[in-house]
Amino acid sequence: MKILKTIEELKEVRNNITEGTIGFVPTMGALHDGHISLIKQARNENDTVIVSIFLNPTQFLPGEDLDNYPKKDEADKKICEMCKVDYLFMPDTSTMYEKEEVLIKAPNKSYILEGASRPGHFDGVLQVVLKLFNLTRPTNAYFGKKDAQQLTLIQQMVRNLFLNINIIPCDIVREKDGLALSSRNVYLNNEQRQEALKISKSLTKAGQLIGKKEFDVKTIKATMKEVMNSLDIEYIEVVNKDFEPIDTIELKNTIILVVARFGNTRLLDNLWV
Ligand code: PAJ
Repeated sequence: MKILKTIEELKEVRNNITEGTIGFVPTMGALHDGHISLIKQARNENDTVIVSIFLNPTQFLPGEDLDNYPKKDEADKKICEMCKVDYLFMPDTSTMYEKEEVLIKAPNKSYILEGASRPGHFDGVLQVVLKLFNLTRPTNAYFGKKDAQQLTLIQQMVRNLFLNINIIPCDIVREKDGLALSSRNVYLNNEQRQEALKISKSLTKAGQLIGKKEFDVKTIKATMKEVMNSLDIEYIEVVNKDFEPIDTIELKNTIILVVARFGNTRLLDNLWV
């Protein structure tokens, strides 16, 4: 595996790849089994695999956890090596950004749900993902369904800007007890970690109701609230794959989204129906 730090190094490597498919997995590091599943899928499906680790400052709002975000560069390098990644791109902030004059924005879908809680977050995500796409020019790029709104916005960017990249949605990886893996789970104390299980339990319950042909969103939301009774729920929302709120579950076209707060930590999870 080759570690690349500069744009020049990455450009040279990329220009020399003239055959085969390229799979790209963008991350912010502190890699866990969720990231690893994306990397393994990229490895299985492509001739060349590029992973990026870049803690992107523009997607953090003032007061968020940019400075405390877990950093595990050495462990991350070993994980990528073990997953047989070909190139690991780990740029500095000054490498990725100068004074930015041209910004990517998604004025509507960027500012609802996650974007309402974190205004501007998705503009930063799209900005950095487009930069990374332009540098790596991948055939296939892998994103977790865990960040459903991020995935949807990236798919929309690819369509709107005619990017020649396949976006591959990847299933959510969970702990054995159901908690969705997240770099931010390390912020939880034991009690919060236990309480957090109610999030995935509420989604499992929703799935069971839908299995019994309960398609009424109000009923499903009420049952989920009961399961998460003691939690500080930020939102439970049911949307179609265009991220429009719906009142009735549409099979194969519904995402149930949950965010709950544990102190300063927001945990998000979702179920694709
Ligand atoms: P990060 O949070 O590091 O996540 C990198 C990728 O891993 C994302 O596509 C995310 O959806 C996926 N992922 C995280 N937890 C997962 C889980 N439990 N199961 C499956 N996939 C999971 O998302 C970002 O970084 C950034 O916003 C980024 C796209 C890199 C732009 O900066």
